[in-house]
Amino acid sequence: MSTSSTQSSVTFSELGQRSKPPTIAKLMAMALENSELLSIAAGFTDTANLPTASVQRGVESLVAQEGAPEFLQYGPNQGRPELRRLMSEHLCEQEPVLDYHDVQRGSFITNGSQQALYLAIQVLCDPGDIVLVDRPSYFVFLEMLRGLGVEARSIPVGEDGKIHQTELREMLRAMRVSGESSRVKALYFVSYFSNPSGRSLTRDEKELLAEELSAADLLVPTIEDAAYRDLYFDEPWPADSVLSTPGWEGFPRLYTSTLTKPFATGLKVGFATCTDVEWRAKMLHVKAHHDFGTANFNQALFEQVLEGRGFQQQLARIRPSYAAKMRVLDQQLRDAGLIELGWTWEEPAGGLYLWLTAPEGLDTSLDSAFCHACVEAGVLYVPGELCFGDDAPTDTIRLSYGVLSKPDLREAGRRFAEVAKRFGSNSP
Ligand SMILES: Cc1ncc(COP(=O)(O)O)c(C=O)c1O
Repeated sequence: MSTSSTQSSVTFSELGQRSKPPTIAKLMAMALENSELLSIAAGFTDTANLPTASVQRGVESLVAQEGAPEFLQYGPNQGRPELRRLMSEHLCEQEPVLDYHDVQRGSFITNGSQQALYLAIQVLCDPGDIVLVDRPSYFVFLEMLRGLGVEARSIPVGEDGKIHQTELREMLRAMRVSGESSRVKALYFVSYFSNPSGRSLTRDEKELLAEELSAADLLVPTIEDAAYRDLYFDEPWPADSVLSTPGWEGFPRLYTSTLTKPFATGLKVGFATCTDVEWRAKMLHVKAHHDFGTANFNQALFEQVLEGRGFQQQLARIRPSYAAKMRVLDQQLRDAGLIELGWTWEEPAGGLYLWLTAPEGLDTSLDSAFCHACVEAGVLYVPGELCFGDDAPTDTIRLSYGVLSKPDLREAGRRFAEVAKRFGSNSP
C-alpha cells in the first residue's frame, strides 16, 4: 500500500483551499539550498543571548515547590491569574495612566501574540471583509488575512512614513461612497519599533487616526500590536497605546504584546487585553477550540521570571546588545557605499529591523534577479513587497539584525552590499 501521493484525494474546505505555504517557508527553503547562507530575513531573537540561567532558576524553583505540581496540569483557558496580574502590572508601569483593574479584567494569555491576532480576526471577519492596516505592515498578519479570505487596505502614509491625514480622509470618504465602509471590520497596526519599518507611531498620528475614523463613523474594533514595545535601545517610545490615547474611548480595542521577543521566543507566550467584554469572550471561546489554554508550565515559568526580576535583567542585557548589532549592520552598509548608490534607510530606536528602500527602479521582490543574486552570494533578506496590504512597491527590503553574531552581520552586510554595487542603481 502506498502511503504518500503528490495529488491529494482529500476535499478541502474553503479555508483549506485558500491556504498557501507561508512565504517564510519559501525563504527558509532558499536558505537550505545554500548551507553557507547568512539569513538576515527571519525575525529570530539573539540565540547567544537567550536567558538560560534565568530559565534554569525558574524551573528549579518551580520543581522545588512543595505540594502538587499544578504547573504540570492543565490550566485555565484565559491564562494563569498570577501571570495575568504580573503582565497587567507591567503594562501599567509602561503606561501609568492606565487603570490596573481594567487592564487585568480584559487580559488573557495566548500562544504568542500571533494567536491573539488570529483569534481577533477569526471572530470579527468573514471572507470578503476588509481590515485597515498600517503601511508597511507585519507580513505574517497580512498572509493570515489572505488565508482567511479577508482584504487588507493600507492606511495612506506620506514620504516620511507618517500617516497622511488628507489622503486618509479621502480614502475613507471614497469607501463610504462606494459602500465598502460596511465591509471594514477591524483596524490593525504595529505601533512600537515596527516590524518591518522600525518606526513607531507618534501620539499625534494615533490621535488623528481616531479622529478621522470617528468622523467617518468607523468606530471599528482596533488591534494595536505592541510586540516590540519592550525592545527600545535607550528610551521607551513616549506615545501611549490606544488604551489611553484620547479619541479612542468609543472604539473596542485589543492590545497585544508578547514575552517571546523580549525574553525567549521558544517559550511562545503572549499577553493581550481587550476593552470589549463580548469580543474578549468570543476570542476565548475560539481559543478553547484551539487549545483550551496556553501551556501551563510555560506560564508558571514566566511567573517565576517576572517575580524574580529575570525579565528586567534580560531586557537590560539585550537592549544594548540589539542596539550594537543594529549599528554593526548599519555601519557595514554605509561603509560599503550604499547611501552613495541611492539606498535609503533610517536608524531605528528599537526593535529588530532595518527597512531599506532601493535606488529607484531596482526590483528587490522575491523573484527578482536582485533577490536571486543575493541568495547566490549567500545572504537572505525579506522582500519588502510582502509587507504591504495593497499597492506593494517592489523596491523595499527588511533586514533583521536579531539572530546573527556581529561578525556574521558584518559578513552578511558585506555580501549584500557587493550585490547592491553590482546592480548599481538599477541593473546588473
Ligand atoms: C509585529 C509582530 N506581531 C506579532 C508577532 C508574533 O510573535 P509571537 O507570536 O512570538 O508573540 C511577531 C513575530 O514576529 C511580530 O513581528
